[in-house]
Amino acid sequence: MKILMTASEAVPYAKTGGLADAVSALSLALAKLGHEVRIVIPRYYGINRGELTQVEGAMGVHVGGGEEWCAVYTTALPGSPKKNPVKVFFIDHEKFFGRDGIYGTPAEPDFLDNPRRFTFFCRAAFQLCRKTSWYPDVLHAHDWPTALVPVFLKFGERHGEFANTVSVLTIHNLGYQGIYSKDNFWYTNLGWNDFYAAGFEDWNMMNLLKAGLYSADKLNTVSPNYAEETKTHVQGFRLDGVLRHRSADYMGILNGIDSGLWNPKTDDLLPQKYSVQDMSGKAKAKEALQREFSLSGKSDVPIIGMVTRLTGQKGVGALFGPAYGSAWSICRDMNLQFVLIGTGESWCENELRSLSGRLSNFKAQIGYSENQSHLIEAGADFFLMPSQYEPCGLNQMYSLAYGTLPIVRNTGGLADTVSNYNEEKGTGTGFMFNDLTPSAIYNTVGWAVWAYYNRPKHIEAMRIRGMKQDFSWEKSAKVYIAMYESALNPAP
Ligand code: ADP
Ligand code: GLC
Repeated sequence: MKILMTASEAVPYAKTGGLADAVSALSLALAKLGHEVRIVIPRYYGINRGELTQVEGAMGVHVGGGEEWCAVYTTALPGSPKKNPVKVFFIDHEKFFGRDGIYGTPAEPDFLDNPRRFTFFCRAAFQLCRKTSWYPDVLHAHDWPTALVPVFLKFGERHGEFANTVSVLTIHNLGYQGIYSKDNFWYTNLGWNDFYAAGFEDWNMMNLLKAGLYSADKLNTVSPNYAEETKTHVQGFRLDGVLRHRSADYMGILNGIDSGLWNPKTDDLLPQKYSVQDMSGKAKAKEALQREFSLSGKSDVPIIGMVTRLTGQKGVGALFGPAYGSAWSICRDMNLQFVLIGTGESWCENELRSLSGRLSNFKAQIGYSENQSHLIEAGADFFLMPSQYEPCGLNQMYSLAYGTLPIVRNTGGLADTVSNYNEEKGTGTGFMFNDLTPSAIYNTVGWAVWAYYNRPKHIEAMRIRGMKQDFSWEKSAKVYIAMYESALNPAP
């Protein structure tokens, strides 16, 4: 099968969150199953053209009643199977992508011209196929930035070489929908009939994700539980009605983890590799983590770790909200250490700096670092994710693979991947709570710390149980193939 992934992020080139991990890892898993997979992303300023090969000739893209010219670059995705590499294509357009930031910058979090940038990019995906004379069976779009791909396929492009092509749209995060003024609609080159027929209309605005959800042949999100939650008023972000309407074509497929990058047996970013058979490397990682974050080097104190975007979705209000958040009392009352790396909303960054100054057992690093994120996953005893909502969540799966027990809210993909500790039987792989309140987080962290000191055998067994779980992408990739096949051969 020929599959084109159209996305705004893909590791190792551009990443703001798990979307980038998922796009590349799914592509590799599909290629390993023998499918022909290509990825197309914008050539953001930070992606070095010097390391890519230019595709000969400029490419014209029809948008906004005119033509925009761009260049195209390509390379093979690292980790690709030798005989069947995943080719990555980059759309290079100075005006739209020659600047810092993917969707915005701290000063301008959502670039004013985002609807145009991504309208252009989605049209360019079709042109790329023509330019390279390579036509996919499946056009696979991800989140609002490429939600116009299924729309363009259904409204205008499905003819000629694209006559039998189908589209799939994956929701990685329903909280971001690409809602913009209708003034931007003309840029799509669609007619006003299509505006209503495709479902763009949203309280007199233009909603890109909504149009994609109406237009794609199949839809999915990144965990079965989140698929159910999004069909409810509480978690549906106003699109629950659309998703209920499309429920026959909508499913949840759990993300996997890239075991080439996230595997304690092979992880070069750790001081010493480790496995279920020999856990000594985990103790070494704990020492290194304490050194890295200037925490006192005690081996018998539990470390709670976090690696996160600092936004409401991640539950940071209940944890770090000035005056009411529970992090301060957790660190004051309990014999533990707390480390965090993250970036995001400035109130939260400021609060983290303030807590780091007031508490000797709390250390936060404001920034983004692959090295430190691996060290936290390996060196911590517990990994905290009090998410308000979580489509899948990768970090809790990384934690399980590294023998670090997740403490999570019972929501979305967290509920699909973690099972709650049972004190009587010693079963489970982590610690869970239902309500996103400071006291629920406090109590659950307290419960985990209690088990650490009083039920060490249970903790040991839980670590091993987590490490033995199979979160490989191969399993999920097969479900994606089944979804593609059902789109290509719809039931009569
Ligand atoms: P989301 O995509 O909603 O942020 P996920 O758990 O799916 O949540 O994925 C987050 C990804 O981003 C993980 O790979 C995580 O390690 C990474 N990440 C987030 N913040 C940082 C950071 N400050 N430094 C390094 N990696 C980070
Ligand atoms: C999103 C979600 C996260 C998910 C990731 C990859 O960013 O917030 O839960 O794991 O996409 O699908």
